[in-house]
Amino acid sequence: GVTERLVIAIDGPSGSGKSSTSRGVAQRLGLAYLDTGAMYRAVTWLALDRGLDRTDAATVAGTIAQARLDVATDPAAPTISVDGTDVTTAIRDPQVSQAVSSVATNLAVRKDLIARQRAIIAAAERGIVVEGRDITTVVAPEATVRVLLVADPAARVARRQAELGNRVDHDAVTDQVIRRDRDDSTVAQFTDAAPGVTVVDSTDLTLDQVIDVICGLVPQHTGS
Ligand code: DC
Repeated sequence: GVTERLVIAIDGPSGSGKSSTSRGVAQRLGLAYLDTGAMYRAVTWLALDRGLDRTDAATVAGTIAQARLDVATDPAAPTISVDGTDVTTAIRDPQVSQAVSSVATNLAVRKDLIARQRAIIAAAERGIVVEGRDITTVVAPEATVRVLLVADPAARVARRQAELGNRVDHDAVTDQVIRRDRDDSTVAQFTDAAPGVTVVDSTDLTLDQVIDVICGLVPQHTGS
């Protein structure tokens, strides 16, 4: 109906411009915003902080299950805390980036975080933009709009290079992007679009153009 809550699910690899795009769409449409990758990063931060053996899947999952996660869904200030500690900045540390796939492949952790993600989505009264790897397929397959955001590897390397600046050399950045793709491929299958998912290729588009394309998908799915 016309009062239907809008849920926009956006999956894609790292460097596809997913976060900037998802925040931009949320801001333009006045929706909440959820970065599920930040949740995987936050619980990885916790596992590292506690010095847990990440091969001990049961202890890792049990510790995470006990933790309080506070995720702010304002697209202008998407902060995240674990047991009252704000980890918004710490979750971007290289140690977390390097360890996150070892936690994200823990199936008990995934089950826990998927349940928390669904609760956050259900609580967003006006609707929400949710980004990740398994949102269109697992977390919210019933979303109003489902997008797989892709970009050529060279474009993703260039964006990552722009984020890091010239202190990191091009080969190192290329290796990093390729390694992340490989680690991520063990986490969730997200490189092919599931049925009903619209592929948006951002390679030759500006951020504003990608936001336009995704916002343009909304009317055809809501019949307004
Ligand atoms: O999007 P990101 O790079 O911040 O994601 C961090 C890690 O979490 C990455 O290894 C993929 C994983 N992830 C996942 O398994 N499922 C999601 N829904 C989101 C991220």
